[in-house]
Amino acid sequence: MKRIRSIVRGIGSYLPERVVTNYDLEKVMDTSHDWIVQRTGIEERHIAADDEPTSALGIKAAQAALADAGLTPADIDLIICATSTPDYTFPSTATQIQFGLGMSHGAAFDLQAVCTGFVYAVATADKFLASGSHKRALVIGAETFSRILDWNDRTTCVLFGDGAGAIVLEAAEGEGTSADRGVLTSHLRSDGRYRDKLYVDGGPGSTKTTGVLKMEGRDVFRFAVGMVTDVVADAFKATGTTPEELKWFVPHQANKRIITASAEKLGIAPEKVVITVNKHGNTSAASIPLALDVACKDGRIKKGDLVMIEAIGGGFTWGSALIRW
Ligand code: ACO
Repeated sequence: MKRIRSIVRGIGSYLPERVVTNYDLEKVMDTSHDWIVQRTGIEERHIAADDEPTSALGIKAAQAALADAGLTPADIDLIICATSTPDYTFPSTATQIQFGLGMSHGAAFDLQAVCTGFVYAVATADKFLASGSHKRALVIGAETFSRILDWNDRTTCVLFGDGAGAIVLEAAEGEGTSADRGVLTSHLRSDGRYRDKLYVDGGPGSTKTTGVLKMEGRDVFRFAVGMVTDVVADAFKATGTTPEELKWFVPHQANKRIITASAEKLGIAPEKVVITVNKHGNTSAASIPLALDVACKDGRIKKGDLVMIEAIGGGFTWGSALIRW
């Protein structure tokens, strides 16, 4: 049966200019390049300049995605920005980006699902487009996690980085089969029982402060590898596709060991896994669109390829989306 699909029309990303390597961190805290690489695969990360709020990163990523799509802001009627590091408590970073793009039409809102934010945002935009209410969505993941880190806590601050990525999703009629281009299926989950495993210890409604990131690293590792498999299996089942048919697996880039262990558990061949955590660190909601952009620009992801995105993040939240590029 024919149905509206959300097709990826363009992609772009932006990384702040300043690169901080593990060797730079060695100079200011009790850590080592070897420890960080062995435990996480991270070699370096980008850190936003003082005058670069999250929206500034998001605007540049959005402009790059629009240019790639051959579109202008006038063609967009929906902006969803996935972020846990908004410029302000309100207005939303999405409206800041809307303003920065010179847009005053359409709708813009933020979506907060921490590291799963981009997957949630893709799923949400897809449902808006499939309903017929909107035609073209800018889906953005933008973060400045450097601002919510405790730089005296070596167990967390070495893991994260700043950046933004964006895609343009466009509504188009498909046949309703897994051969269609576009978002074929998405599966979202959360379980608030784990809310204290990974959290920020402040907020406007509790401490009236921003707070800093806290994490029980070992538990997060265990859950990250154990939990995400259900939503990936659900995506294959819902579309009648298999890990063998998958061309690219683009997971949230938190930690190389989590990524490789998850891929192995899911039966996905290592050569199909896109890894950028070595160069970006964990950029939370920005990590998947940043990784997708790298793999598109270097020629790996091509039109028609079957691409699985998946993530797990604070909450816990987790989710997957299967996209025919
Ligand atoms: N440099 C050097 N030594 C360190 C550092 C550091 N940056 N951080 C911790 N250590 C030390 C610890 O103090 C400890 O020393 P001790 O044995 O003398 O007490 C030792 O290293 C081992 O510490 P553990 O916490 O047990 O190290 P572990 O092997 O569990 O690795 C890590 C820690 C990397 C955080 C791991 O648990 C992990 O990868 N967890 C997943 C967390 C993650 O990726 N979160 C991202 C956010 S969640 C998401 O996006 C899905």
